[in-house]
Amino acid sequence: TLPVIFLMLSNHYPLAFASQYNWVIAALVFLMGVSIRHYFNSMHAGNSRPLWTWLVTGLLFVAIMWISTLPLEFDSLEDAEARPLTTTEQVFASSEGFDEVQDIVLGRCSMCHARETFYEGVRSAPKGVHLETTSDIVAHARDIYLQAGVTRAMPPANVTYIEPEERAAIISWYRNAASQLPIQLAAN
Ligand code: HEC
Repeated sequence: TLPVIFLMLSNHYPLAFASQYNWVIAALVFLMGVSIRHYFNSMHAGNSRPLWTWLVTGLLFVAIMWISTLPLEFDSLEDAEARPLTTTEQVFASSEGFDEVQDIVLGRCSMCHARETFYEGVRSAPKGVHLETTSDIVAHARDIYLQAGVTRAMPPANVTYIEPEERAAIISWYRNAASQLPIQLAAN
């Protein structure tokens, strides 16, 4: 029960899941469940109170805290710049309005969504979304369209003052490129 409750609550706490090792964290939480349960089972059986389980549980928890602070791994800026584009990405990169969208993203989004962020209070790119290179931008074309074009979710509270015309430019670039693609993307 305890690990299940932990996992149900964990989606409110990025410290528990926003790591590429979140599966290790989940596994260790289950082990903590085992050691805690062993203590109670032994106690209720009336045999003993195995205090070593407290130590094991504590150590597992310290290990979890350590794992959750490990920095995320991601490609370097050079690798991202050198990465060949997929066929779909090439359509987005060569579509009308891409240069303008790239300028908008670099001006309004990159300060937070960078490999080395330069916005006060943002220590690493939120959700691991990097928006710095051409390859980054075309890889996230649909996300950019959804978060900053058709909705106003990004930038948060419009802290970087994106203009309505810029949102419109993102929308028309995306729709135009998507219309040249297979049906499932064009439909949106
Ligand atoms: C002030 C910093 C900041 C700026 C500027 C910013 N973002 Fe974000 N972005 C965030 C934060 C914080 C989150 C995580 C939000 C969350 O946890 O739901 C995020 C999340 C995202 C995501 C992932 C959304 C998801 O739920 O998967 C995308 C895509 C994104 N931003 C795109 C953009 C685009 C496009 C721009 C520019 C138009 C932009 N952001 C500007 C801080 C910023």
